[in-house]
Amino acid sequence: HITSITAAQRLDSRGNPTVQVRLTTNKGTFTGLVPSGASTGIHEALELRDTSSTAYGGKGVKQAVHNVTSIIAPALIEKKFDVETQLKEIDAFMCELDGTKGKKKLGANAILGVSMACARAGAAGLKIPLYEHLRLEAGALKAPYIMPVPFFNVLNGGVHSGNTMAFQEIMLAPTGATSITEAVQMGAETYHALKTVITKKFGPAATGIGDEGGFAPPISKPSEALDLLVEAVEKAGYTGKIQFAMDPASSEFFREGQYDLGIKDKTSPKLTPAGLSDLYRELFTKYPIVLLEDPFAEDDWETWSAFMAKGKEVKDMPEIVGDDLTVTNVERVREAQQKKACNGLLLKINQIGTVSEAIAAANLAFSHSWGVFVSHRSGETTDDFIADLTVGLRTGHLKTGAPARGERVVKYNRLMDIEDELKASGEDVVYAGTEFRTAHSA
Ligand code: PGA
Ligand code: ZN
Repeated sequence: HITSITAAQRLDSRGNPTVQVRLTTNKGTFTGLVPSGASTGIHEALELRDTSSTAYGGKGVKQAVHNVTSIIAPALIEKKFDVETQLKEIDAFMCELDGTKGKKKLGANAILGVSMACARAGAAGLKIPLYEHLRLEAGALKAPYIMPVPFFNVLNGGVHSGNTMAFQEIMLAPTGATSITEAVQMGAETYHALKTVITKKFGPAATGIGDEGGFAPPISKPSEALDLLVEAVEKAGYTGKIQFAMDPASSEFFREGQYDLGIKDKTSPKLTPAGLSDLYRELFTKYPIVLLEDPFAEDDWETWSAFMAKGKEVKDMPEIVGDDLTVTNVERVREAQQKKACNGLLLKINQIGTVSEAIAAANLAFSHSWGVFVSHRSGETTDDFIADLTVGLRTGHLKTGAPARGERVVKYNRLMDIEDELKASGEDVVYAGTEFRTAHSA
């Protein structure tokens, strides 16, 4: 069982403070580093920040750190939970200790750091890899192991970059690869081809990057972004093997019932929900788009449902993923299922604040034949937890930024490690490929 828990304020990839937890058992010391979003959904669990302090511009997490060391640590240690078999009980206990709906008292960032460290301690105690421990926690099938399609965010807009593009993320998905290792190579080569394309079009000063490592050239229209990808994929020699995805993160530009694509660029239009829906459907006919996340705002249920209903008539309709809409929360997922608002769940552990609750949200999604798309945050750390989570839950796809920058590649590198390890031990391993939405039940 747990003998000590310490916490400290450390930095994330944006240079903002985040919570680091260190938890010790008789098997060793285990860490959890908590990520942080920028386009955060209003229904997410609370990320506790020291807003009344001037340190780090009010973004310190000293209170959250204090909550770990002086409230969570003594209470958990006293309970003598068995980390190997009681992750659910530990997570539920911390939720109770908080006592509020959105983890408003202790902070989801405080609780999640402990939950992640407990999961790692449990795996070590059982002498199994973290992905295997999480698979058992989730009750997921064992063979074959599913390696996910990595969705590389190579063009950054929205609140993640200083260009004028309202859409936040434009991604490459190497569905035509045969392994994660090959997919990473395809993604990295295309990323470099994209840099060349951008340099030629806009000059070398335009190759600066956004928060998730993708380029942020001076473009505004989604079609300009997708045209750049078409050119880069062709240049890299992967036409037909790499498909596209978008996360407009539209809650960020929803204003009084309208979607204002001119939020960073006065020449772009303000669209009605129907107008934006038409724009998406037009893009589906022109580009190989296989996934669309947060096409509409977090409480614009009506438009989500109408878009899904009309989707039945659209040929090759992409997976429609809820992020700010569903916030990895079973109550919001249930509501989305009742309203037939989407058919995919973005899974971000810090939106809900414990590993067990994130697993429950994934299982609810799977039980309604939804896809599950594991995700990093725009403010990340070198923690690679989500790589193991993706393999353990057999989600078949994840997004964790560009194939560049340490905090992003650490996840892709871990996935390649897992693939190598499984293959070396003779396990049955399948790359999800074009079946990424349904790989879970394969
Ligand atoms: P965030 O962005 O981490 O800034 O919220 C990621 C996303 O919207 O998917
Ligand atoms: Zn999103």
